[in-house]
Amino acid sequence: MTMDISDASRTTTQTVTDYDRAKEVQAFDDTKAGVKGLVDAGIVNIPRIFIRPPEELVEELTSHQTNFQVPVIDLDGVRGNNLEEIVDQVRAAAETWGFFQVVNHGIPLNVLEEMIEGISKFNELDVELKKEFYTRDQTRNVRFNSNFDLHYSRTANWRDTLTISTLASTNLDPNEYPEVCRDAAREYIKNVTKLAETLFELLSLALGLKAEHLLEIGCPKEYILLCQYYPPCPQPDLTLGATGHSDPSFLTILLQDQIGGLQVFHDNQWVGVQPIVGGLVVNIGDFLQIISNDKFKSVKHRVVASHVGPRVSVPCFFMGHNAEIPKSYGPIKELTSAENPPIYRDFRASEYFSKRFSTVLDDNSPLHQLKL
Ligand code: OGA
Ligand code: NI
Repeated sequence: MTMDISDASRTTTQTVTDYDRAKEVQAFDDTKAGVKGLVDAGIVNIPRIFIRPPEELVEELTSHQTNFQVPVIDLDGVRGNNLEEIVDQVRAAAETWGFFQVVNHGIPLNVLEEMIEGISKFNELDVELKKEFYTRDQTRNVRFNSNFDLHYSRTANWRDTLTISTLASTNLDPNEYPEVCRDAAREYIKNVTKLAETLFELLSLALGLKAEHLLEIGCPKEYILLCQYYPPCPQPDLTLGATGHSDPSFLTILLQDQIGGLQVFHDNQWVGVQPIVGGLVVNIGDFLQIISNDKFKSVKHRVVASHVGPRVSVPCFFMGHNAEIPKSYGPIKELTSAENPPIYRDFRASEYFSKRFSTVLDDNSPLHQLKL
């Protein structure tokens, strides 16, 4: 299928004035069938609520392909001889890319594969069964919906999301998970939280702190697991799987299948993150950028839509203390000095989070609002 930008521009220019967006968004939400519901219905033209503004579509035409590659770090020997070398690699990646992939991280391949399969199965359930999970109620630990920001974003994204979060209450009971992916999710969460602890130790060392520092301030304590499902899209050039954003977390560990589509903004261009069998993507979130006083970078990323799919990915956002013991975070004292004063004020993860998720998913991360 070829893209006709001029046509798309006309459509979207019209849309700004000529249609009741709120009404169409509501109608889509009311189906509770998500983007997959549209694809299953056999649509050929994507609904206009998903079409990006004309200026974005035009800008896309000048973006380049690149041969850059996000660094890959082998964690083999992290508890032995290779620690120092690994810490150096983590530091370099966290300072420049804000992203890296890890291999030999200790999570068995079958745990990763079963998680992806479980999420596919959930999305492929009969829509009537899925609807029971469809909600925008933030107080629910387990919720399914399409586009958390559907009612205030400029453009809807081509994806559906099952969220499993400890933020509403830390007493997250696996019995609340959908049965088709319950065992897989339980096993994956157990493993990924353990890996997070290792990564926070490495990041502490990379900041020149003692290994336990980021664990002691609770960085891996609470999490939000977003199980993302990106159905194939009949007009992928007109929309996105996920609009460009940085993550509202300390750290995100992302499991993805082999389809690809995640891109990182590096050196003024979008760089694809090539899937690696058994690998996991790790990125620095806004909170770690703040507490490291800008030493580590929380970098913008997005997901392109594709004819190929569905694509499944599972980012896990590590949020620090939040629901149980809300805690203030700010630049780490050991990392600031008279010559290097704090750049940010202290904030609560919950405060940041509510700001972030009540505004449009775009470049305006609340990070800038916390600058002193
Ligand atoms: C996210 C995200 C990337 C992906 O949900 O924050 O960046 O590959 N997802 O799904
Ligand atoms: Ni993200």
